[in-house]
Amino acid sequence: TTRIFSGVKPTGHLTLGNYLGAVRQWVESDQHRADALFCVVDLHALTVEHDPARVRRLSRQAATLLLAAGLDPTLCTVFVQSHVDEHTRLSYLLECTAADGEMRRMIQYKEKSARERATGGSVRLSLLTYPVLMAADILAYRADEVPVGDDQAQHVELTRDLAVRFNQRYGQTFTVPRAVLPPVAARVMDLQDPTSKMGKSHAETSGIVYLLDEADVVRKKVMRAVTDSATDVVYDRAERPGVANLLELLAACTGTAPDTLAAGYGSYGALKRDTADAVVELLRPVRERHAELCADPAYVDGVLRDGARRARELARPTVDAAYRAIGLLPAG
Ligand code: TYM
Repeated sequence: TTRIFSGVKPTGHLTLGNYLGAVRQWVESDQHRADALFCVVDLHALTVEHDPARVRRLSRQAATLLLAAGLDPTLCTVFVQSHVDEHTRLSYLLECTAADGEMRRMIQYKEKSARERATGGSVRLSLLTYPVLMAADILAYRADEVPVGDDQAQHVELTRDLAVRFNQRYGQTFTVPRAVLPPVAARVMDLQDPTSKMGKSHAETSGIVYLLDEADVVRKKVMRAVTDSATDVVYDRAERPGVANLLELLAACTGTAPDTLAAGYGSYGALKRDTADAVVELLRPVRERHAELCADPAYVDGVLRDGARRARELARPTVDAAYRAIGLLPAG
């Protein structure tokens, strides 16, 4: 059977971008068609300045939201990365497989490290090695597919390179995975700055729709989305990014292609209203279910405990095999 692995990083509240780019595929397709594991990757949240209590809170919230969005623990495995030691064990072996130049070429590293330096902060070493830990997340489970948004595609490419290299040097150990992107909304843009990605850790939040935003807040954010000075509705990502983003959001909600939708609108106002309504309806059940689950923290804890146990069982043989293959003396 196909094995699927993906994750979400608790550096902020989950956004509409996380939902449409990744989580919705996990819920609607992946968990039904494969042996799927979904992980709250809390170790990854330590790569930038963080508040310990906030990371702990956001990890629990992310796990709760994944269940609220419809991940069903009877169909798939939901767990927290730091509960399974195999991720960090394997990460070190992959650090010994990767080259530093490869890490420095990663777009996210370049962007995030530049941002840290610009604000006078220092860059954590773990920000540089982040993609190696991500590769370990995936390879430890011998995942075939990694359903992600567009911004993670480069990291999955690196994961493939590391898997191939390790297998060539030390013998067949890992499955070489592939990224699977959603057909629309693989890159949801910020509503106030449609040339940059809607990111959960951005400081300016007026262009970000969070999964837990109230309906009136969602509506306001969509109605105030930045567009351009043209008046006709045309789907053109390069020249008309704001309008294209709205069309993609509506497309993701309705299942109709963005350019087909564009032909049916004569003004931005109507497009925004319909998009706002569609997003509100999309998120309503998630927010309601989240509230219910918050009232039952023991249930969420139980899911995560069982998930970690299963994840450990799956990862340990593969990571042990990698230890042997790379030349480490068995503990006996
Ligand atoms: P993270 O937490 O930034 O995002 C989680 C998922 O949401 C997708 N995504 C988006 N998709 C469309 N539009 C957007 N604006 C948008 N923003 C985020 C991401 O592509 C991702 O699929 N490094 C990863 C977490 C991770 C991981 C892994 C993923 C760690 N290990 C192993 C897959 C497999 C990250 O920071 O995702």
